Amino acid sequence: MPDFVGAVDQGTTSTRFMVFDHGGNEVGRHQLEHEQILPQAGWVEHNPVEIWERTASVIRTAMNNLNLSASDLAALGITNQRETTVVWDKRTGRPYYNAIVWQDTRTDRIASALDRDERGQTIRQKAGLPPATYFSGGKIQWILENVEGVREAAEAGHAIFGNTDTWLIWNLTGGAHVTDVTNASRTMLMNLETLDWDDELLSFFDIPRSMLPEIRPSSDPNGYGSLEAGGPFRGDVPLTGDLGDQQAATVGQVCFAPGEAKNTYGTGNFLLLNTGTELVRSEHGLLTTVCYKFGDQAPVYALEGSIAVTGSAVQWLRDQLGIISGASQSEALARQVDDNGGVYFVPAFSGLFAPYWRSDARGAIVGLSRYNTNAHLARATLESICYQSRDVSEAMAQDSGVTLDVLKVDGGVTANSLCMQLQADILGVPVSRPVVAETTALGAAYAAGLAVGFWKNTDELRENWNESERWQPSWSEERRTEGYAKWRKAVERTLDWVD
Ligand code: G3P
Repeated sequence: MPDFVGAVDQGTTSTRFMVFDHGGNEVGRHQLEHEQILPQAGWVEHNPVEIWERTASVIRTAMNNLNLSASDLAALGITNQRETTVVWDKRTGRPYYNAIVWQDTRTDRIASALDRDERGQTIRQKAGLPPATYFSGGKIQWILENVEGVREAAEAGHAIFGNTDTWLIWNLTGGAHVTDVTNASRTMLMNLETLDWDDELLSFFDIPRSMLPEIRPSSDPNGYGSLEAGGPFRGDVPLTGDLGDQQAATVGQVCFAPGEAKNTYGTGNFLLLNTGTELVRSEHGLLTTVCYKFGDQAPVYALEGSIAVTGSAVQWLRDQLGIISGASQSEALARQVDDNGGVYFVPAFSGLFAPYWRSDARGAIVGLSRYNTNAHLARATLESICYQSRDVSEAMAQDSGVTLDVLKVDGGVTANSLCMQLQADILGVPVSRPVVAETTALGAAYAAGLAVGFWKNTDELRENWNESERWQPSWSEERRTEGYAKWRKAVERTLDWVD
């Protein structure tokens, strides 16, 4: 058996390829950003060809730097930004349109029309999701209706759909059209009980079934297809892991038992609670989603609190306001003050996701007085990440009865120690970060490695998990309660903004 497993993590802002050893330690990586295309307010696109080229490039560079060849890898896993929608011509491999990104709100009217009649309830019941701009179904419908020739091409069986996992697998294998259950559970088109595309759901969006990929387990010993000899690996590697990035992070954080949860701090934040083989339907604004399915074992489900804008609010301070020159500077700036100086910032740039699901919301900064400075705004931005996580953890406690006694965290923003301290303060529970903070790529590697016997079982994976740092709550109960009440008031100010 070769010594390593590889994983591609195709995220919202960048794509990385990472190599892990049997202990789950990182052996090496390479990473490249891609362009964020913002054609008008609320629209966010990526160029799928650029994403594929960057993916091939990060693989080649990392493999070269590590002096590895395809035969050194026991398996390959893919994980990806979920919901982002690509439609391409299966005869030429050319996309008909840019990828429409999960944050894009152009399908607002499609989503709200569904929610006005009983179709909304059917989607909630069958797919576990509220009708929202976030998911792929409306994005596919938009492409079918607005990009010339796509409807005809779809009906003729030429136009096919995939999230970026499917798009990369297609390109790596030279034509396998597959996805996994976790990605499929983010489309509003898959029935959570049958784990198959649902004709009634497809009819709501008028999507021909022939456009959709085959749905497979997240860890599949049969593999998703052979890699092209001329591809970036220059040889075949068993491609046996595929799962959405937040589910992958849940696997990387070894949340294998019901009641175990993790919170990932990336472009957005995603808190997932493993609910075991039981489908828990949310009554408090969370999503019911597939957490993973390993081979022919029963699927494991999760409750998810998805927050659209967290790390990207820090990027906004850098790119649009120019008050910091790099993300890491947000910590130094926010540390210049002891508190938020009364300022609350609700970064509802894509409306509000969980638990509110209000696409009519837009961002607001409230509580300003002449006394306030950039430092207060930086602090309010970090607090907004933590308050939004508190919103979803409250909803999770109400839906599942599970109150977290510790929050496992991962993702880029967890390098910001002040933000993690604020998270412990605002939640009132300790926050714990593992040694390997790249749990998304690690989870994809775990799924792939389990399928080929590189790791025997999930117990073996648990042994790889080690804590690197823990933050303890330090605020008084009174400060915590008061701060949260103000946050909720600030959230109210953002609603009903867009008609
Ligand atoms: O649902 C969207 C999510 O998968 C994006 O994750 O890490 O690319 O921001 P990330």
